[in-house]
Amino acid sequence: MTRSHCYWVSCSITIYFSFLIHSLASPSFHFCRHDQRDALLKLRDEFPMFDSKPSPWNKSNDCCFWKGVTCDDKSGQVISLDLRSNFLNSSLKTNSSLFRLQYLRHLDLSDCNLHGEIPSSLGNLSRLINLELSSNRLVGEIPASVGKLKQLRNLGLGDNDLIGEIPSSLGNLSLLLDLDLWSNHLVGEVPASIGNLNELRAMSLERNSLSGSIPISFANLTKLSSFSIFNNTFTSLPSDMSGFQNLEHFHISQNSFFGPFPKSLFSIPSLKFVYMDKNQFTGPIDFANASSSSKLEILLLTNNRLDGSIPESISRFVNLILLDIAHNNISGPIPRSMSKLVSLRIFGLSNNKLEGEVPCWLWRLSSAMLSHNCFSSFEKLSSKETLIQVLDLGSNSFRGPFPLWMCKLKWLNFLDLSNNLFSGSIPSCLRNFNLTGLILGNNNFSGTLPDIFANATNLHSLDISRNQMEGKFPKSLINCKALQFVNVENNKIKDKFPSWLGSLPSLHVLILRSNDFYGPLYHRNMSIGFPGLRIIDISHNGFTGTLPPHFFSSWREMITLDNGSYEYVEDIQNFSLIYRSMDMVNKGVEMSFERIRQDFKAIDFSENRIYGKIPESIGFLKELLLLNLSGNTFTSDIPRFLANLTKLETLDLSCNKLSGQIPQDLGKLSFLSYMNFSHNFLQGPVPRGTQFQRQKCSSFLENHGLYGLEDICGETHVPSPTSQQPEELSSDEEEKMFNSVAAAIAYGPGVFCGLVIGYIFTSHYHDWFAEKFSRKKLRVTTTAR
Ligand SMILES: *[C@@H]1O[C@H](CO)[C@@H](O)[C@H](O)[C@H]1NC(C)=O
Ligand SMILES: *[C@@H]1O[C@H](CO)[C@@H](O)[C@H](O)[C@H]1NC(C)=O
Ligand SMILES: *[C@@H]1O[C@H](CO)[C@@H](O)[C@H](O)[C@H]1NC(C)=O
Ligand SMILES: *[C@@H]1O[C@H](CO)[C@@H](O)[C@H](O)[C@H]1NC(C)=O
Ligand SMILES: *[C@@H]1O[C@H](CO)[C@@H](O)[C@H](O)[C@H]1NC(C)=O
Ligand SMILES: *[C@@H]1O[C@H](CO)[C@@H](O)[C@H](O)[C@H]1NC(C)=O
Ligand SMILES: *[C@@H]1O[C@H](CO)[C@@H](O)[C@H](O)[C@H]1NC(C)=O
Ligand SMILES: *[C@@H]1O[C@H](CO)[C@@H](O)[C@H](O)[C@H]1NC(C)=O
Ligand SMILES: *[C@@H]1O[C@H](CO)[C@@H](O)[C@H](O)[C@H]1NC(C)=O
Ligand SMILES: *[C@@H]1O[C@H](CO)[C@@H](O)[C@H](O)[C@H]1NC(C)=O
Ligand SMILES: *[C@@H]1O[C@H](CO)[C@@H](O)[C@H](O)[C@H]1NC(C)=O
Ligand SMILES: *[C@@H]1O[C@H](CO)[C@@H](O)[C@H](O)[C@H]1NC(C)=O
Repeated sequence: MTRSHCYWVSCSITIYFSFLIHSLASPSFHFCRHDQRDALLKLRDEFPMFDSKPSPWNKSNDCCFWKGVTCDDKSGQVISLDLRSNFLNSSLKTNSSLFRLQYLRHLDLSDCNLHGEIPSSLGNLSRLINLELSSNRLVGEIPASVGKLKQLRNLGLGDNDLIGEIPSSLGNLSLLLDLDLWSNHLVGEVPASIGNLNELRAMSLERNSLSGSIPISFANLTKLSSFSIFNNTFTSLPSDMSGFQNLEHFHISQNSFFGPFPKSLFSIPSLKFVYMDKNQFTGPIDFANASSSSKLEILLLTNNRLDGSIPESISRFVNLILLDIAHNNISGPIPRSMSKLVSLRIFGLSNNKLEGEVPCWLWRLSSAMLSHNCFSSFEKLSSKETLIQVLDLGSNSFRGPFPLWMCKLKWLNFLDLSNNLFSGSIPSCLRNFNLTGLILGNNNFSGTLPDIFANATNLHSLDISRNQMEGKFPKSLINCKALQFVNVENNKIKDKFPSWLGSLPSLHVLILRSNDFYGPLYHRNMSIGFPGLRIIDISHNGFTGTLPPHFFSSWREMITLDNGSYEYVEDIQNFSLIYRSMDMVNKGVEMSFERIRQDFKAIDFSENRIYGKIPESIGFLKELLLLNLSGNTFTSDIPRFLANLTKLETLDLSCNKLSGQIPQDLGKLSFLSYMNFSHNFLQGPVPRGTQFQRQKCSSFLENHGLYGLEDICGETHVPSPTSQQPEELSSDEEEKMFNSVAAAIAYGPGVFCGLVIGYIFTSHYHDWFAEKFSRKKLRVTTTAR
């Protein structure tokens, strides 16, 4: 994509300023004026942290050569002060000596850790052309006196903690080219006077709490090229936007805009990047007024409430590279005319009501996300031009055998066919792809999963869950050093425990649930590994054998906290964890969202035939939130080290042969909101502790001699725990427990992938955005000496 191309507004403005400063300060002889020097020295004292080396600010040098200082050639007056990215860690006082530098035209104190308020005396620096205070920690309101700086071309106050409204006096800055107020806490409506700034090229108001309508007066901003107001709560756009004759970049995502699709916008020929996602636009998409010479490259309409079909007129945007209309109510087929969009690379349609045939021109794109629609068939593959890399067809209405012509899509690396009715075998031609993700869950695939992963060294995710697969677990996965996510649940795979997966450093999620796996989890002299595991669910299989005491001691990811710095945005798998957590929350599992999504870690070994002692090393897994060992044949005591798992929220040890007492220290586990000890041979007192007192009676049923259950089971009917019928065992709570890992991990693999892919592209947009809107774009080089 056009990563290297320079965003022209920023370039032109930068060039403009560079020119300005250079022309003012050509390298030649000049003397520092004493009054200016004294003011600078006082200023230095105001900033005790200021490190003025390598050209120290001291009296014995000409102040015009001091670091960050530029003087006028002839008069010797200080005209530019650029201390950006110096750690000043101070505030600007009203009487600061800065305001004695009356000839300043350029002041850059961005990224200096300035705090405190912006003094209103700033308005006295009436010659300022460029005022850059962004990326500090400035608080308070924007002083109205800034409106007195009539020469100002650039006003940069972004990325601070400013509050209050935008002062209407800013409308007096009639020469202003760039208004940067992004990422503050500004509220209220944008004053109509801003519409007077008819030289304005770029306006950045994003990430504030601004509200109301975009003033009609903005129609006068005919030179505006970049308009960014995303993440506010604006509600309406001017009905006619054709006046923005030079608009290139229009970013209004994450607001509360409602009403019909703003079709007048698309009559602007210069328009290149349009981000309108996460609003409440309704009705059909309408490009009837689209300019025939459109330059549009990116159009994001996701997460609105648009309906109707994709208009044929979309084919006017011949320069379109990225089009995403996911999460709307768009119906009908993909229009034929779209095949004219020869520049299109990324096409997102997921979560709509589109139907019909998937046209074969899609295979020349790099990514097509079509999940959660009603597509049912494919157009015959005719073109040889197959560049598709990411193909998401999950959750549609496809049926029949695996589409073998896909073997010809030679660049394919992420394929999602989940949640359809595909059947038959999974072809071995997949071995020819450089796979990163293969998501085939919830279909009717059968046969043995071919051992196709020998060359799949970039594979992150494999999901063949909920099919009819049988035979062995593919050994070639041992080559997939990047593997993070494996889900084969609900098949008929018959194999031993793939303990060799333990050597994969990044394997985070392993789900073997509900298959015919058998044999021990551990055999002597085996190195256990699994350093990256966060979630393991091997429940409902035929695993047997004992676990040695040190079994869990190498599961580092569950032992250590990612000290909060873990980036969940880097890759597919990390995101899937977020998704799964969200899904869990949606299903009503009572855990806080933030908490789960950061560090959901779970072990489910339930419903197997594992016996012997619960390994003591379980006590190392301090990050564990869920432990389910129920339905096995664990004997002897509950290890008291379980009380080391201070984050544990769910603990199920039911239906084993555990004896002895419930360790009293478990009463201290303050997050343990669900537990089940029923159907064992436990005895002695139930631990005190609020979490225990909140449990249902059924959590303790069918034990030998537990007592102290009066508060839990009710005073009137203190059960003899051995005789009580397990009538509550199928209550919602129980259900929740038994399915919680499944809910978190296994539910709707297609949904999961749709989101994963959606996510990948969101991060693409971010990159694009970061580049186009680089905050450093207006910084002026003042090294002209
Ligand atoms: C002032 O500048 C002179 C000449 O560059 C230098 O030798 C001296 O160390 C400086 N004094 C201070 C206090 O920085
Ligand atoms: C910066 O200033 C703040 C408040 O004035 C102070 O608490 C902090 O210690 C200072 N930081 C450094 C590194 O001097
Ligand atoms: C500014 O005023 C404060 C008192 O309000 C005083 O302490 C300080 O010395 C003054 N600073 C200058 C540079 O005059
Ligand atoms: C500077 O501005 C302040 C407040 O805006 C004002 O009170 C003061 O008189 C001005 N000082 C000069 C020297 O202009
Ligand atoms: C700005 O202009 C308005 C008129 O639009 C005027 O009333 C006001 O005094 C001006 N403010 C400043 C700070 O110049
Ligand atoms: C646009 O500017 C013209 C003068 O340049 C003015 O007459 C008109 O009222 C302005 N329109 C709006 C909507 O502010
Ligand atoms: C808007 O920004 C705030 C903080 O800047 C953030 O907490 C919030 O999630 C953002 N809103 C959306 C919809 O992204
Ligand atoms: C949009 O198109 C309609 C008819 O096609 C026309 O009447 C109207 O003037 C156009 N509006 C703009 C803003 O171009
Ligand atoms: C889609 O349309 C249905 C009714 O047809 C409505 O219930 C649903 O809320 C709409 N969804 C969106 C995202 O607008
Ligand atoms: C396979 O794909 C990965 C990531 O998508 C890429 O980095 C790698 O270069 C590709 N390898 C080959 C042989 O194409
Ligand atoms: C792996 O790739 C190499 C080179 O592309 C090829 O020769 C080999 O047959 C492949 N191995 C498998 C098992 O597909
Ligand atoms: C459990 O915690 C105790 C006290 O912090 C510690 O001595 C013990 O080694 C821990 N045991 C395990 C298995 O982590």
